[in-house]
Amino acid sequence: MASQFKRTLVTAALPYANGPVHIGHLAGCYLPADIYVRYLRSIGHDVKYICGSDEHGVPITIKAKLEGTTPQAVVDKYHKIMGDAFKEFGISFDIYSRTSSKIHHQTASDFFKTLYEKGSFTEQVTEQYYDESAQQFLADRYIVGTCPKCKNPNAYGDQCENCGSSLNATDLIEPRSTLSGSKPVLKQTKNWFLPLDKLQPKIKAYIEKHADWKPNVYGQCKSWLDSGDGLQPRAMTRDLDWGVPVPVKGADGKVLYVWFDAPIGYISATKELLPDSWENYWKKEDSRLIHFIGKDNIVFHCIIFPAMLMEHGEFILADNVPANEFLNLEGDKISTSRNWAVWLHEYLLEFKDKQDALRYTLCANAPEAKDNDFTWKDFQTKNNSELVAIFGNFINRTVVLTHKFYEGKVPPANTYAKEDLIVLAELANAPDKIAKAIEQFKFREAITEWMNVARIGNKYLAETEPWKLIKTDEERVKTIMNIALQISCNLAILAEPFLPFTSKKLFGLLNIVPLKWPAAKHTGNVAQGHLIHKEELLFDKIEDSEIELQLNKLQKSKEANVSAKKAAPVKPETTFDDFVKMDIRIATILEAEVVPKTDKLLKLKLDTGVDVRTVVSGIAAYYKPEDIIGQKVMMLANLAPRKIKGIESQGMILMAENAKGELSFVTPTKTEIENGSAVK
Ligand code: MF3
Ligand code: ZN
Repeated sequence: MASQFKRTLVTAALPYANGPVHIGHLAGCYLPADIYVRYLRSIGHDVKYICGSDEHGVPITIKAKLEGTTPQAVVDKYHKIMGDAFKEFGISFDIYSRTSSKIHHQTASDFFKTLYEKGSFTEQVTEQYYDESAQQFLADRYIVGTCPKCKNPNAYGDQCENCGSSLNATDLIEPRSTLSGSKPVLKQTKNWFLPLDKLQPKIKAYIEKHADWKPNVYGQCKSWLDSGDGLQPRAMTRDLDWGVPVPVKGADGKVLYVWFDAPIGYISATKELLPDSWENYWKKEDSRLIHFIGKDNIVFHCIIFPAMLMEHGEFILADNVPANEFLNLEGDKISTSRNWAVWLHEYLLEFKDKQDALRYTLCANAPEAKDNDFTWKDFQTKNNSELVAIFGNFINRTVVLTHKFYEGKVPPANTYAKEDLIVLAELANAPDKIAKAIEQFKFREAITEWMNVARIGNKYLAETEPWKLIKTDEERVKTIMNIALQISCNLAILAEPFLPFTSKKLFGLLNIVPLKWPAAKHTGNVAQGHLIHKEELLFDKIEDSEIELQLNKLQKSKEANVSAKKAAPVKPETTFDDFVKMDIRIATILEAEVVPKTDKLLKLKLDTGVDVRTVVSGIAAYYKPEDIIGQKVMMLANLAPRKIKGIESQGMILMAENAKGELSFVTPTKTEIENGSAVK
């Protein structure tokens, strides 16, 4: 452990409280940070693990609109769900706080004031879209319009999901507000900007001092600093009604930018946890600050937050920012809105007491250097072929044989043979190897080294065959079984950061009070004559049927997505005068037949209440002629006639169409609405 540091503050990105936790979150930062922190605790280092919900920002207000409730209700709901799931999964935060708390509002507000009073901000008046009917400024996600690049009519104010371009709201052609559907107007507004352009030299110096950061992190930072115009001023306040109010005069209706307030959440949460000593972790040069995040958060943690801290002046800066890449699921990007995810709270119900199987898979497969894929098949393999077949098998053999030969009492080690000494040396080396990998944030390598200890044990038993040897050399078997028990104990110590539930169970099985990391450098932790408990299965096999169930669930999401594609946003405004030009009537289908040589068209005869007419309609894929005689429908009666396949069509049937393009009649629900009734 880098010894110039007396204490370490580990933070994991504060997740938005707008949806439950999924495996992408876990693999991205909460699990690696947890392993790191548990390891530090085990070596006796002073460490605190800080997290909480990020409860401000536009995603929360959008979720509230979607659920027809208030932002506060949304964050209350998800703060609880997320906090509970993390806890049950063994994520060992010292505190899981939230940014809607009083202490956070106060801390963030004070922080802003300090910068304001120092003159750190520049005031800028810009033109932002404003919805006059909703009487509010519109965040980018509240504006849709036509993409200037690909002409997608439903691009967002910050991005076109069709062509992937990142956009400014003012780039959109025919912008409309998603709040009211109306056309937003540009209105001037004043906001406070952090002049990152001026701070660039200081930020650059800070980054370049940390060329030892993970290549994906350092590389991204460098490319921002070195590319094009370099850093640009960024608004630290927003015209929004959900967040921390801007604590200066003339800022009514404005809140702190969510990326200004959220990282300050790390400070407020530390204050809440340690009211008397929080400053030790934030203001002393012998303290080390480490941010675990996902790659989409790099700019905020490596550039903007450090810039804020530098301007403030009282705080230390992050010593490292080990960001992970993304975890995909079965070859596809994890997506909350498409329900393409493995939800932690569901996993915990469906795979009861199998937290460690998921922890193991997510760590062994972590997207440390590049995006990676989680597949259920791989999860099954990791569980069955590694946890069960290697680790579980070794422990099981050891415990069973100890009971069989010695009634559960640890036998003495007599004289060590050459192969024993090799195994013991490897065992004694393991903690440093694993520690080194953890300290370099190489958790995949670390957990592989841990499993290698079990491999060594397994191989040792397979080669020495104590179950056979017992018939010819009882003394030798005592030594072998003693060594197997020492390996088991050290495996329990070294498992703790990765697989805390298993570690605890294994200590229980060995009837030993949990030991700390340094003990694993010794190979005599289990005393001769000590009584161990009877075998208990640490891992059991995951069956094909369980995996199929999960794959079916995902398949259902896929299908639901196709059918439940988001409804198209509202079209540009029209007028009532335009609307009443359309003469829409109720009519009844009298006759129907397929138009020859087509498979889509039906020729219909309709009683419109005014006359009987012929209409050609493209509904043959959805309705059989014989099924729709007598069907009441809506029709546009004053549409100019047109020839379709040589038949004059005198109007148009109105149909409802879903995202898949499936059609349905729209029918009055009361029989007294007779033919010729107007629809208006
Ligand atoms: N809520 C953000 C996200 O989920 C992360 C915030 S990290 C913090 O991407 F530093 F701002 F807290
Ligand atoms: Zn586009």
